[in-house]
Amino acid sequence: MCGIIGYVGERAVIPVLLEGLRRLEYRGYDSAGVAFFDEGKISVIRALGKLFNLQELLAGYGKNPRGIGLGHTRWATHGEPAEHNAHPHGDCRQELVVVHNGIIENYHTLRGMLEQKGHKFRSQTDTEVIPHLIEEELEAGFDLPEAVRRALSKVEGAYAIGVFWAKAPHMLIAARYQSPLVLGIGEGENFMASDIPAILPWTKNVIFLDDGEMAILTKDSCQILSLRDGRKIAKEISRIHWDAAMAEKAGFKHFMLKEIYEQPQAILNTFRGRLDPETGEVNIPEICLSPEEVLSLKKICILACGTSYHAGLVGKYLFERWVRLPVEVELGSEFRYRDLLIDKNTLVIPISQSGETADTLASLRRAREVGAKAVAICNVLGSTITRESDGTIYTHAGPEIGVASTKAFTSQLTALLLLVLYFGQMRKSLSEQERRRIARSLLRVPYQVEKLIEKVHPEIKDLAYDYQRKEHFLYLGRNILFPIALEGALKLKEISYIHAEGYAAGEMKHGPIALIDENMPVMALAPANHHVYEKMISNIEEVRSRRGEILALGTEGDETLARVATRTVSLPECEWEVSPILYTIPLQLLAYEVAVVRGCDVDQPRNLAKSVTVE
Ligand code: F6R
Repeated sequence: MCGIIGYVGERAVIPVLLEGLRRLEYRGYDSAGVAFFDEGKISVIRALGKLFNLQELLAGYGKNPRGIGLGHTRWATHGEPAEHNAHPHGDCRQELVVVHNGIIENYHTLRGMLEQKGHKFRSQTDTEVIPHLIEEELEAGFDLPEAVRRALSKVEGAYAIGVFWAKAPHMLIAARYQSPLVLGIGEGENFMASDIPAILPWTKNVIFLDDGEMAILTKDSCQILSLRDGRKIAKEISRIHWDAAMAEKAGFKHFMLKEIYEQPQAILNTFRGRLDPETGEVNIPEICLSPEEVLSLKKICILACGTSYHAGLVGKYLFERWVRLPVEVELGSEFRYRDLLIDKNTLVIPISQSGETADTLASLRRAREVGAKAVAICNVLGSTITRESDGTIYTHAGPEIGVASTKAFTSQLTALLLLVLYFGQMRKSLSEQERRRIARSLLRVPYQVEKLIEKVHPEIKDLAYDYQRKEHFLYLGRNILFPIALEGALKLKEISYIHAEGYAAGEMKHGPIALIDENMPVMALAPANHHVYEKMISNIEEVRSRRGEILALGTEGDETLARVATRTVSLPECEWEVSPILYTIPLQLLAYEVAVVRGCDVDQPRNLAKSVTVE
C-alpha cells in the first residue's frame, strides 16, 4: 500500500507532489513526506499523520523550488508510524533519496551487511536499505540507472520505487517488481505514481511498467530498461479516459457517499454496449475465450479478497444456477498456500477493484502455473491482474477513492451477471426466455438503484441515530443474499468500528443465536419473492422470540415482514439475479450514516488502506 509520486519538469514541484499525494492518500495515511532539489541540495520534509500535517509544514517552507521531486504517503509495515520512519529515505550523505511501496523481505541481512561496511541508518524501515545499496554502487563508479539496477538485483521482495540523486538532478528513476507503478508522459515533463488518479491533472498519457522494468525519466524523455540485464524495452503509451474531476468529491461530504450515489451510472457503464436490450444477448469478446474453450470448462474458481470476495460468493450462486458448472470461491490469502485441484479445464476469475491486490495476484499466478485460463473482473485499466489474465471484463465504474468499496462491488456483481448470461447462452444451459427475463431485470437496475437511494437515504439517516451506540450487529441472509449479509457486516465494521458479523440465517441455531438479547440488533434480508422467504421469516421469528431487535430489508407492501420485524425498510420487487445489487444499497448507506454520526473518518478508516499490495 503506500502511495508514491515523482515529478521531473519545470513546474513548481511542491504543489504537484501535494496534489498527487492528496489523490494517493487512500493508499495509506500514517505519515507523508516529500523530497525535492533546491539550491543545489536535496530537501526532505516529512510529517507524522495525515497529509494535512505535511501541507502545514510545507506552507512554512517559504520557497518554491522547481524541477524534480518525490512524494510518499505511508501505510506502515516495518517500523511504527513516526516522522523518522516516513519516506523519503536517503543514503549516508543525503545525496540520494528513495520512496518505496512494497516490502523488502531480506532487509535484515542487507542492513547487517551495510552496517558492517559503515552505513548509518536513521529509521526502522525495510526501505532504507535501498538508498544505501545504491550509494554503494555509485561509489563503485556506476552511473545512477546502473547503480539502481545493480542495487535492486540484491533485493528480495516487492517494490515500486522512485529515486533521484543530487549529482544528476535532471533524472528520475522508477522501478517496479510486484508493486504497481504507472508513468505519466507529459510535454516537457514526466511523472511516476502508484495509481492513475495521481497524475490525471497533468496528463492522460501513461505507460504501465511491468514487473522487472525500470524507467529513466527526464523532462523530455522516458526510457524503459529491463532490470535483469539493462536491455532497452519498447513500451506503448496508453490513453486514459478518466478525467481528473472524477477523482474529486463533487460537493459530497465524502468520497464514499459520492461513490454510493454513482452506482446507477457505474452499473450502466458496466453493461452498456455489452448487453443487447432487445434480445438479451451478451457480447464480451474481451474475455478472449473461444467457444470451444468455454464449452470445455469443467469448473470455475473465483479468486478475490474482502468485498470482491463477497461479489465472488454471489457469482457462485449465479453460475451454479445458470451455467451449471461447479464453482469454488477462494480467498486469495488462503488459495495461494493450498493444494490446488485445478487444471487447464478450470477457469479462474480473479475479481479485484484495483487489480493489484497481492493475495489475489499471487493466487492467479499459482493457477496460471497449472495451466488454468483466467478472465479477470477489474476496475483499473492496465493493472497487473488484468495483464496476467487471458481476458478482462472491465467494470468501468470510474476511480474509487473511498477506502470502503461500494460502486466497485455493485459493478462487479453486474459484470458477473454478464459473464453468467454469456456462458449460459454459449453452453445452452440458459433458455432464451430466461436470458431475456434476466437481461430485462438488469436493464432496469440503474433506474431502480437511483430511485432506491433517493427513497431510503433519508430513512436510513434517521435509523443511524438509533444504532450509533450499539457495539454489535448481526446481519442475516440466505441463499444469494447470504454474501450480501457478509458485505453489509464488513461495511459496518470497517468504517464505523462496530463489531458486526454476517451469517447464513439458517446457521443461527447452530451457535450465534446464543448472542441474541434485547441489545443485539439484527439486520435481516428478506425479499418476498425469494424461494427461501418462508425460511427467512422463521429465522426472524426465532430472533424476535428471544427479544432481539430486527431491522429488515424486504419487498414493498410485505405485511408479514412488517409484522415480524421491529422495523422494515422496503425495496422494489426485483428478480433473484439482481437482488444482491439492490439489497446492498441500504447496507452501504447504513454503514456510512452510522460512521458519520459516530464521528468516524469515513474515507480513511483507521488501520486500513485501499489497494492491499502486501501480504
Ligand atoms: C472493503 C474493501 C476491501 C477490498 C479488498 C480487495 O470495503 O474495499 O475489502 O475489497 O481489499 O481489494 P480489490 O478489490 O482491489 O482486490
